[in-house]
Amino acid sequence: MHAVRNMVPYQIIPCQVFRRRKAKTTTKPGNRTHLLDKKYIYRGEKIAVLGSNGAGKSTFFLNINGVLKSTSGQICYRGKTIDKKSLNELRKNVGIVFQDADNQIIASTVEAEVSFGPMNLKLPREEVVSRVDRALAYMNITEYKKRAPHHLSGGEKKRVSIADIIAMESEVIIFDEPTAALDPLNAAMLEEVLGKMNEEGRTMLISTHDVDFAYRWADRAVVFSNGQIIADDTSLNIFKQEDILEQASLKHPTMFDVYRIMEENKMIPEGGDYPRNIRVFQKAIENR
Ligand SMILES: Nc1ncnc2c1ncn2[C@@H]1O[C@H](COP(=O)(O)OP(=O)(O)OP(=O)(O)O)[C@@H](O)[C@H]1O
Ligand SMILES: [Mg+2]
Repeated sequence: MHAVRNMVPYQIIPCQVFRRRKAKTTTKPGNRTHLLDKKYIYRGEKIAVLGSNGAGKSTFFLNINGVLKSTSGQICYRGKTIDKKSLNELRKNVGIVFQDADNQIIASTVEAEVSFGPMNLKLPREEVVSRVDRALAYMNITEYKKRAPHHLSGGEKKRVSIADIIAMESEVIIFDEPTAALDPLNAAMLEEVLGKMNEEGRTMLISTHDVDFAYRWADRAVVFSNGQIIADDTSLNIFKQEDILEQASLKHPTMFDVYRIMEENKMIPEGGDYPRNIRVFQKAIENR
């Protein structure tokens, strides 16, 4: 199965996790060929991975977490190329919430499921218990502690699979469409948790079809089309590029469109900073 999957024309395997350096950027606007060079992911970044069904987002994630092995290129973590020996180190530090929770959940109770990762890290018992309790509370599933994950609903299972990874406290966390199965309340709770985790210094990559979420949450957006990265820029710059949106079948976020229409109709001064969330939007309107 993996061999077939690796036939996806995937040219952007090089991927490094480094400390963020000032003034260092990986993208040169207007220079697409640069996008086929090395890709860097910096500590503390919030990255949205965008692209239509089958564009290669999940494959990319499974490569950078070491679940799939790439046929070309390398994965580097903190400056070291990942080989068979260092694969465990990569997996310990790069946690992934799979798109399909059924592929991730293995234990017979929610508590055992979420304990599994921290126990594998050989942490003291009390630490395991406190991490599990915190992760369950974060995902609003404390009351399901003793239940069998396989008997939970789709969205509940998804929350268990997210709690799994939260409890690992990995340095880099990958979420493959985490909000797709969640109701609005739980999606909002997740967004809050994502903010907290990022404030703690974690690096986060999230694939999503929710452009509104990507726009307000991500600092950087990486766009996939046909197995390749076609754009990598700030989320605002990505949504300003009509050709990229068209190629990746993406739509503008509502907030982006509303602000642009107001600007075009001279309801607000031209050239202001585009607000990415409702709070900043409100301020911009009040101060106009
Ligand atoms: N197990 C597999 N074996 C063979 N090909 C696969 C496998 N999984 C995915 N593919 C193919 O690889 C390509 C990229 O799939 P991938 O799952 O990475 O897309 P995606 O961007 O995550 O899409 P989605 O938004 O639907 O989750 C697709 O053409 C898909 O059909
Ligand atoms: Mg996918």
